[in-house]
Amino acid sequence: MEKDVIIACDFESGAKTLEFLDKFVDCKPFVKIGMELFYAEGPSIVKEIKNRGHKIFLDLKLHDIPNTVKKAMAVLSRLDVDMTNLHAGGTKEMMKAALEGLTRPDGSRPLLIAVTQLTSTNQESMETDLLIKEPLPEVVMHYAQNAKESGLDGVVCSPLESEVVHNRCGKDFLTVTPGVRFADGDKCDQKRVMTPEEARKIGSDFIVVGRPITQAADPVAAYKRCVKEFLGE
Ligand code: C5P
Repeated sequence: MEKDVIIACDFESGAKTLEFLDKFVDCKPFVKIGMELFYAEGPSIVKEIKNRGHKIFLDLKLHDIPNTVKKAMAVLSRLDVDMTNLHAGGTKEMMKAALEGLTRPDGSRPLLIAVTQLTSTNQESMETDLLIKEPLPEVVMHYAQNAKESGLDGVVCSPLESEVVHNRCGKDFLTVTPGVRFADGDKCDQKRVMTPEEARKIGSDFIVVGRPITQAADPVAAYKRCVKEFLGE
């Protein structure tokens, strides 16, 4: 799949999401649907957005026993999304089961991306709450390697980690990176950010951009600026 900008549609309802997407008349951005919207509206919102011609990253971060994840992924594969994800912490066995479940009878499947350690987890909480004593960057890389060995397509990571992930897991292993901001924009609550152009230079494959587009005075113009900076067109 080509490099692209994915808009994080973090809206609380289907109506607000569709109202936002109505602004895009001459282009159909790749959109991310997260737990809030999916749990509020269910599969119908995915089908509606798909019918409007958008690619969809369904960000539900599955994590359960392998058999349950496999069956859940089989259901998601029928929604015809383009990308979905899970927690690498569920182990390689779970990731392999997820891939099996996600693969349709004709052999096609959505891209499957792993979350390593959430950016809300830091060294202290990982050591204290999870009893993982290794340095956080090593844990992230180990989980990325596990995802690669399980046959997954890539990881969600900071754009700052894209280069290291590619060095360790190969340049075809996808990096999907949030934490992107325009040089002249508000960082909001993101701590470590990069511009779309920097994310391109460092090798991110997909950037996930929310508020710089959804909260912009002109979201379509902000999206087009983001695409231009990221794809260098
Ligand atoms: O509005 P903003 O551009 O910060 O949105 C980024 C999106 O990426 C949000 O949907 C957020 O939940 C998601 N995300 C993130 N950091 C991660 C993983 C996901 O910001 N480590």
